[in-house]
Amino acid sequence: DELGVVAVGFSGGQCKPGVDAAPSALIANGLLTQLRQDLGYNLFHDDTVHSYKDLLPTSDPDYRGMKNPLAVSAVTKKLCDQVYEHAKEGRCVLTLGGDHSIAIGTIAGTARAIRERLDRELAVIWVDAHTDINTPETSESGNVHGMPVAFLSGLAKEDREDVFGWLKKENLISLKKLVYIGLRDVDRGEKLILREHGIKAFSMHDIDRHGIGRVMEMALGHIGNDTPIHLSFDVDALDPMWAPSTGTPVRGGLTLREGDFIAECVHETGCLVAMDLVEVNPTLEPGIDDIGAQQTVRSGCSLVRCALGESLL
Ligand code: ARG
Ligand code: MN
Ligand code: MN
Ligand code: MN
Repeated sequence: DELGVVAVGFSGGQCKPGVDAAPSALIANGLLTQLRQDLGYNLFHDDTVHSYKDLLPTSDPDYRGMKNPLAVSAVTKKLCDQVYEHAKEGRCVLTLGGDHSIAIGTIAGTARAIRERLDRELAVIWVDAHTDINTPETSESGNVHGMPVAFLSGLAKEDREDVFGWLKKENLISLKKLVYIGLRDVDRGEKLILREHGIKAFSMHDIDRHGIGRVMEMALGHIGNDTPIHLSFDVDALDPMWAPSTGTPVRGGLTLREGDFIAECVHETGCLVAMDLVEVNPTLEPGIDDIGAQQTVRSGCSLVRCALGESLL
């Protein structure tokens, strides 16, 4: 099978440096070699970790409370094209982030390609401790990595072309085809949005109650058979025990096995068309030496391998 790979060394959707070092760390840990040799993928990768230096503005003042609005908009616009170019050829696309703001680009690119190729609407499975559905107005932080779902669903709109106004109808997703898994730190304004729009969400409480097996049946049942799926996996969905090196860790999360199981279930559908792995920050090292960073990188590699079919016996 053909797999497009985009390595995105970008951290402008939040304030902590280091998340841009994730793609190199994941690749140095052997991820792409494993995908090629163990899983047999035919990789389409430009052997570059993109930092989009030429797109970054010299001055980037806050706009509607958003931090780095011009940089995040320009980078995600370019990333949208990169992902689209792979997806329109029928390749599954793996994007290694980067903070979660990059999902604005990846999902916009996949949504367009799936519309044009299959005349279908894209489903999104968002695995995260957070919902990342703040509008610029509801956000308390101004960090765009907390807003991607609002822009991708049209909840947040902006006319200015250089501040996400480049997102057109063909780039957007339906909130009806969105499912969250792993939630445990949702802002007050975000809870109102979830309720108002009846968005399907499985919190850690739901996983404790039903078990991850039943939750995945319900999540995939909501999306429906034969629907193309974009899996956007924020490593902070995992408990800090397995993924301590991330910008906004929240205790009480998924075990690594639960995370791998989610990825395996998505693989089993045969409908996975794109995956993001985001928010690995190998420079945040809560432990001694870089044990925490190494663990987080290894967990990230495991999630990707599972989503791409590693556990098939
Ligand atoms: N809800 C908080 C915010 O809006 C945290 C978002 C964390 N997002 C993430 N992709 N880790 O800033
Ligand atoms: Mn998160
Ligand atoms: Mn919070
Ligand atoms: Mn996130």
